[in-house]
Amino acid sequence: MDGNGRWAQARGKPRLFGHQAGGRRVREIVESCPQLGVKYLTVFAFSTENWKRTQAEVTGLMTLFKRYITKEANALRDNGVRVRFIGDRIRLETKLVEMMDNLEKLTEHNDLVHLTIAINYGGRDEVARATKRLAREVKAGRLDPEEVDAETLAKYLDTYVLPDPDLVIRTSGEARISNFLLWQSAYAEYEFVDTLWPDFTKDIFAEILRNYAKRERRFGAVAG
Ligand code: IPE
Ligand code: MG
Repeated sequence: MDGNGRWAQARGKPRLFGHQAGGRRVREIVESCPQLGVKYLTVFAFSTENWKRTQAEVTGLMTLFKRYITKEANALRDNGVRVRFIGDRIRLETKLVEMMDNLEKLTEHNDLVHLTIAINYGGRDEVARATKRLAREVKAGRLDPEEVDAETLAKYLDTYVLPDPDLVIRTSGEARISNFLLWQSAYAEYEFVDTLWPDFTKDIFAEILRNYAKRERRFGAVAG
């Protein structure tokens, strides 16, 4: 969800104003999912690298996350959305983590749309944490190193219950991955759009999905 800062800047407003506008977009996009046939949606809200931003921006974003949870919790529950969070919670404030846990619990029986929110998430960090837990299992004698393969490692990732993404969309004209779902995106299709996230409407989303549907995916095989 890139481009909030530039969106605000273009209007002579502080960056946080852009993040607020970006937050409102999340609702529109999540609500459009059932109609568009999207069962799993993962949004990148805060990366392990975003701590490098000013204290004011980081605090502002954390406040927005808490506000989003408070404001949206009941609507998400009532609209059949199951919410999960990925990323390392250890560095997040206790209050926020508590709210994240509660929202996961509140929506755990929903199955219409699976919304995953990545907070303090980094693909490399996730693989490193997964490896650490896997290594602990080996050390404890519960896992045979000879049996470790890609599937084994995937079970230790934050996303272990989720399917790999079919399509990764990056907004704001940047053509890079920036540590998002590195492992899981091995065979994902990518779409880079110039639209800044606060301008990303459900119509743009629908258009991207239509184009995606025309792509031929071979997963390393030859067209059949
Ligand atoms: C939102 O956009 C991404 C978040 C980390 C919340 P940016 O804050 O990266 O916006 P730009 O790139 O400065 O425009
Ligand atoms: Mg950015």
